[in-house]
Amino acid sequence: MNNTVYYDSGASDEVRRQHLYDGQLFVYSPRRSILEFVDFARGMIEDAFGDFDPRIAQDGMDVESYAELLGKLKPAFIHHPESKRYLTAILEDFGCDLEKTYFDVPRMRSSTSSNYLTTGIAYAWHAHRDTWYSAPPCQLNWWLPIYELHSDNAMAFHPRYWSEPVKNSSVGYNYYTWNKLHRGENVAKLVKEDPRPLPRATEPMQLDPQTRLICPVGGLVLFSAAQMHSSVPNTSGVTRFSIDFRTVHLDDVVERNGAPNLDAACTGTVMRDFMRGTDFERLPEDLVALYDDGTATQGELIYMPKSA
Ligand SMILES: [Fe+2]
Repeated sequence: MNNTVYYDSGASDEVRRQHLYDGQLFVYSPRRSILEFVDFARGMIEDAFGDFDPRIAQDGMDVESYAELLGKLKPAFIHHPESKRYLTAILEDFGCDLEKTYFDVPRMRSSTSSNYLTTGIAYAWHAHRDTWYSAPPCQLNWWLPIYELHSDNAMAFHPRYWSEPVKNSSVGYNYYTWNKLHRGENVAKLVKEDPRPLPRATEPMQLDPQTRLICPVGGLVLFSAAQMHSSVPNTSGVTRFSIDFRTVHLDDVVERNGAPNLDAACTGTVMRDFMRGTDFERLPEDLVALYDDGTATQGELIYMPKSA
C-alpha cells in the first residue's frame, strides 16, 4: 500500500473517511474554528498555571503539585460545556453532517520535557492502536496542538504497521472492566510509575522510520483509530499541550464500515461514549449492540457512560 498525507484536502467527509479507513493521513492548515478552541483551551491552561508559563512551568514546580494541577485542569476542560460547542463547530467547519456524526468528549494531553512526568495524568504513550483499547474500526481521531509544535515533542505515526499485525496484549483489555477499575482511580497520583495494564506490543517493533506531522497552531491532524502511533519522547525543553477527540459516522456504524482489524483482540466497546453532534444524544442501543460482546453486563459490571 502507499502512505499518503493529504494536505488541506478539499475532499468531502465521505471520501475523507474512506481514505482514512485505507490508512491515509490528513493534515490541515489553521482555521478559525480550531483557533477558537485553542484560545479557549489556552485560557483554561493559563488560568490554572497562574504566574507560570505553562510550557516551562515544569522547571519551577515539584512534580506532585504539577500532576495535581493537571488532575484538576484536564477533567475541567474535558467536561466543560463550552468544549463541546467548540468541538462541534470544528466538525461543522470540516463538512461533517452533525446529524450523523457522533463525538466523544475532547481530551487535553500534555507531554512534559526531559522525563519530568511521563506516567498517570501525563502518560507518554508507547506505540499503540486505539483499536487495542475497544475503539470501533470506524473511529477517527482528531489531534491538534495548543502551542507551537516541534518535531521533538510531537506525536509519531508508524505507517508500516497499517498493513502489518503486531502481537499485543489487547486480549486482556475489556473496556468496561477498565472503567470500573481505573476510571475512578486518581491517576494524578501516579507520578513515578504507572501500573495500569495498558495494551501494548508483546514483540519488538520497528518504530523508525516514523512520520511526525507538524502543523501550526490552529491546524489539525486526522487519522484512523487503527493507525499505529506513539508519543515522541519529549526532548524539546518545553511541555507540549494538545487536544484530541474522536468521532464515528452513523452510516459507518450501521454498515460496520471502517479500517481493517489486523490484531486487536480486546473486548467491550467505547461506542456508548459517543454523542450526536446536534443534541448530544447517545447512539441507539441496537447499534451499540452490533459492537458489543455481552461483557457490558457481566456479573455486576454494568457500564454507563459518564454523564455528558
Ligand atoms: Fe491513541
